[in-house]
Amino acid sequence: MQNKKWLPLGAALILTLGLSLPMHAGSLSEDVDLRIETFDEIDRLFKALRFKVVNMRSEDHKGAMEYSDQLIRHAYRLPGLFEEPSPREQFPQSRARPQIWDRKDRYDFLLNQFTDNLEEIHELLEQERLTDAGRLIDRTAQSCRQCHNTFRYR
Ligand code: HEC
Repeated sequence: MQNKKWLPLGAALILTLGLSLPMHAGSLSEDVDLRIETFDEIDRLFKALRFKVVNMRSEDHKGAMEYSDQLIRHAYRLPGLFEEPSPREQFPQSRARPQIWDRKDRYDFLLNQFTDNLEEIHELLEQERLTDAGRLIDRTAQSCRQCHNTFRYR
C-alpha cells in the first residue's frame, strides 16, 4: 500500500529522464542548424555592407549601419551555438572542424575579434568615417578566411 504512493512519482521521473535525453540531442542539432543559418545570414549581410561601403563608396552611413547592426546581432548568437562538439558522422550538414573544441582558446579569440571588428565598423559608420570603415571591412573579410582555413571543412 505504501509503495503505491510513489508510483506516479517514479513514472514521472522515468518520463522526465527518458524525454530529456532525446531532447538534449535535439537541441544540439538545432544549434548546428541555427549556426549554419546564422553564418549564411552573416555572409549575405557582410557582402551587402562591403558592396555598399567599399565598392560603391556610398555616403549613406545610416543605410550601412542597418547592415552592421544586423551583423552584430547575428555574431552575438554564435558563441552559444558551439558549446558542444558536433561530430561529422552525426551532423554531415556541418562543416565545423573538431579543432574548434580542441583549440577552443584560439577559436574563441578569433570569434571575439570578429565581433569586436563588427562593433568598431558600426562605430566608424556612426562617426561617418567611411574610408576607415571600408578598410576595417576589408580586414574583417580576411579574418573570415583566416578562421575558415583552420576551423571549417572545405
Ligand atoms: C571564428 C571563426 C569564424 C569566423 C570569424 C567566420 N566564420 Fe564563417 N564559419 C565558421 C565555421 C566554424 C563554420 C561552419 C559551421 C557549421 O557548418 O557548423 C562557418 C560557416 C560559414 C558559412 C557556411 C554556412 C553554410 O551554409 O554551410 C559561410 C557562408 C560563412 N561561414 C561565412 C562567413 C563570413 C562571410 C565571415 C566573415 C564576415 C565568417 N564566416 C566569419 C567559422 C567562422
